[in-house]
Amino acid sequence: MQRRLMLLFLWFRLLNLIAAKNYNRNDFPPDFVFGASTSAYQVEGAALQDGRTPSIYDTFAHQSRKGTPDPDVACDQYHKYKEDVQLMAETGLDAYRFSISWSRLIPNGRGPINPKGLRYYNNLINELIRHGIEPHVTLLHIDVPQALVDDYESFLNRRIIEDFTAYVDVCFREFGDRVRYWTTLNEPNIFVFGGYDIGNYPPGRCSSPFGNCSRGNSETEPYIAAHLLLLAHGSAVKLYKEKYQAKQLGFVGMNLLSYHFSPITNTRENIIATRRTYDFLIGWFMHPLTYGDYPEIMKKNVGSRIPVFTEKESNLVKGSFDFIGINYYSIMETKDYSTGLSKYPRDFFADIGVKWTYSDPSALPEEFMFPNEPWGLERVLEYFKDVYQNPLIFIHENGQVAKHSTATNDQFRVEYLQSHIGSLLSAVRNGSDTRGYFVWSFMDVYELSYGFKSTFGLYYVDFNSPNLTRQPKLSQRWYSEFLKGKNTTTYVDMNKGEDAIINRSSI
Ligand SMILES: *[C@@H]1O[C@H](CO)[C@@H](O)[C@H](O)[C@H]1NC(C)=O
Ligand SMILES: *[C@@H]1O[C@H](CO)[C@@H](O)[C@H](O)[C@H]1NC(C)=O
Ligand SMILES: *[C@@H]1O[C@H](CO)[C@@H](O)[C@H](O)[C@H]1NC(C)=O
Ligand SMILES: *[C@@H]1O[C@H](CO)[C@@H](O)[C@H](O)[C@H]1NC(C)=O
Ligand SMILES: *[C@@H]1O[C@H](CO)[C@@H](O)[C@H](O)[C@H]1NC(C)=O
Repeated sequence: MQRRLMLLFLWFRLLNLIAAKNYNRNDFPPDFVFGASTSAYQVEGAALQDGRTPSIYDTFAHQSRKGTPDPDVACDQYHKYKEDVQLMAETGLDAYRFSISWSRLIPNGRGPINPKGLRYYNNLINELIRHGIEPHVTLLHIDVPQALVDDYESFLNRRIIEDFTAYVDVCFREFGDRVRYWTTLNEPNIFVFGGYDIGNYPPGRCSSPFGNCSRGNSETEPYIAAHLLLLAHGSAVKLYKEKYQAKQLGFVGMNLLSYHFSPITNTRENIIATRRTYDFLIGWFMHPLTYGDYPEIMKKNVGSRIPVFTEKESNLVKGSFDFIGINYYSIMETKDYSTGLSKYPRDFFADIGVKWTYSDPSALPEEFMFPNEPWGLERVLEYFKDVYQNPLIFIHENGQVAKHSTATNDQFRVEYLQSHIGSLLSAVRNGSDTRGYFVWSFMDVYELSYGFKSTFGLYYVDFNSPNLTRQPKLSQRWYSEFLKGKNTTTYVDMNKGEDAIINRSSI
């Protein structure tokens, strides 16, 4: 009898687990958007064609990874956009998130518009709309025009605010009749950390002993660049709101990368260190955007190295968003290292006073995959809800990396996507104002951290074939079935091939 009760209990537990994972898109609010993402330099190719000039992304890619395949060709979406939009339509995407290459639209970053660049983005946007796919446009995805770095060091000089604003003005004016979702900046928090503190991101600036770069200052530059990014963002949003929004009825926001930071053990010190990490990595931008100033702990630990908001700047930045885009990939374990706070010199990382279970992604083996810990996404969304007044959110990127391979049977990616979308659903059900989700990436693209060796795509791209042939992976088929309304567990039936059998205990 006891044994039967026990079995019954286990059976209900199992039912519960399966029910929690057996959802379909109708479980989301009716206007919830599902899409996929890429960015300009990572897919377009044609890097030096039709008037485009290099960006810091080009420069960095050439320095760090010479040889074939050529990042300047990437997926050649510049020439294959019609084929790609066709694939998006077949997949059933509601939306495509892509970025505009500033130096394709305005070579050298300022001055006259490049008519061929203008024509390309008009063609791409029109092609998407013709297929019923909503464009979500990022205005700056790392690829600052190299010319503005050569001229005046771009985001280390206030002149960037005027040039960025002039560039986005062209985008709003030329494309805003058809584009309703604008993101000013992609991951500025990681851009400044990687690009100005440890130097493993473009523009590759840092100082010893924090990294090995030919130029830079890890103690101050991350804070200066972040401040100017916030001001450039604020200026762009002000322009949109004053000049375009009433007529174009669109939305403008900023994107950030967030891990879920989790204390390595539940000691008081580690818990406080975890809060500090959230304040430094997320609060650095979210606090000014929501409350008009940097978090207190940042001002305390960084002291005179962090710029002070004037009242005018604070008002420009505070409230300057309709939505926040979040890129989420994994959990990061956090350990207190506040003793380091008494050391000099200190960089951004040392100012946090933590040790992370963190590795420089560019140094990781190409076999690296994110551990599948989907609850981290729900926790991040809860964090934004509680700490930043439940902003409207789009998950702009989420996906699983793996060694680039012709084996399109990416079962592990299906599991990652299914469990993360399930985690997102839990957060939405508990009140998170998330309105959309985009898989990174629509197709295999050139990755900053891994080049072409490790990719995230729903479509495999054969970078060695002159044709750059696209091939759907199992994850594409799963996502497509999901988008068409199937229950997520039905993917078991989609492919009964030997290595596609789902291990029920992992669902
Ligand atoms: C910088 O390079 C030197 C010599 O190659 C090396 O010993 C040191 O560990 C490097 N420092 C960092 C922070 O990468
Ligand atoms: C649900 O939201 C409430 C209110 O924000 C919060 O207190 C609670 O912890 C959330 N539940 C979960 C499972 O995160
Ligand atoms: C070239 O690409 C197209 C479209 O993806 C495909 O149909 C065709 O078979 C490819 N040709 C070769 C030689 O790979
Ligand atoms: C799909 O899931 C819903 C509950 O979300 C359930 O009512 C329905 O029967 C399921 N359909 C199939 C084919 O499993
Ligand atoms: C199924 O997954 C569980 C837990 O992940 C694992 O212990 C078990 O060996 C797997 N079974 C098969 C047949 O792969």
